[in-house]
Amino acid sequence: MLITSDTYSRFFQIVLSHIQGERLLHSIGVVVVGLELAEQWDVEFEKVYIAGLLHDCGRYIPPEQLRHQLASFGEEIPAEDREFPQLWHCLYGAAVLRYQLRINDSELYNAIWWHSTGEARLTPLQKIIFLADSIEPTREFQGVAELRKLAYIDLDIAMAKAVEMKLCYLNSHGITVHPRLLRAYRFYVERRKD
Ligand SMILES: [Fe+2]
Ligand SMILES: [Fe+2]
Repeated sequence: MLITSDTYSRFFQIVLSHIQGERLLHSIGVVVVGLELAEQWDVEFEKVYIAGLLHDCGRYIPPEQLRHQLASFGEEIPAEDREFPQLWHCLYGAAVLRYQLRINDSELYNAIWWHSTGEARLTPLQKIIFLADSIEPTREFQGVAELRKLAYIDLDIAMAKAVEMKLCYLNSHGITVHPRLLRAYRFYVERRKD
């Protein structure tokens, strides 16, 4: 058990002191969908549960404050993330796991950190968190229904679809694409075409 009966109240205290309202609803949605996918793909429930509730806990914190908080944990923003302050909350969530909850689990840490961009060679847990973040019940965008079905049929095909849709969205809005998402694209989309 990563969270024991002693640390549960602290865990919920941390989650609830960071997120409320719609963001909490979104996070619970990630947990619910994530647990369904975990059942389907034989992934540890507890990790899905923790990642689902923690992944967006930095979402309401302004970027400069996130940078300070991360520095206080001893975490520096990596070079390839510096130009993407909208993604710093991902690293913050991972840092809360490691430094506030003192859970040392690199798979879970990266599941939280990479929840928005994906990455090449994800574990099933990491794919589930990335996908659940996109398809939980409050998400509405063109193609979400197909993505919801795919996630229960084939995780890698669902990853390819989700990554492709994300990339198309960013390109069509003139938003710079993070190198991690590009690596995910090369791994899950281009590799399949070879
Ligand atoms: Fe997020
Ligand atoms: Fe999220």
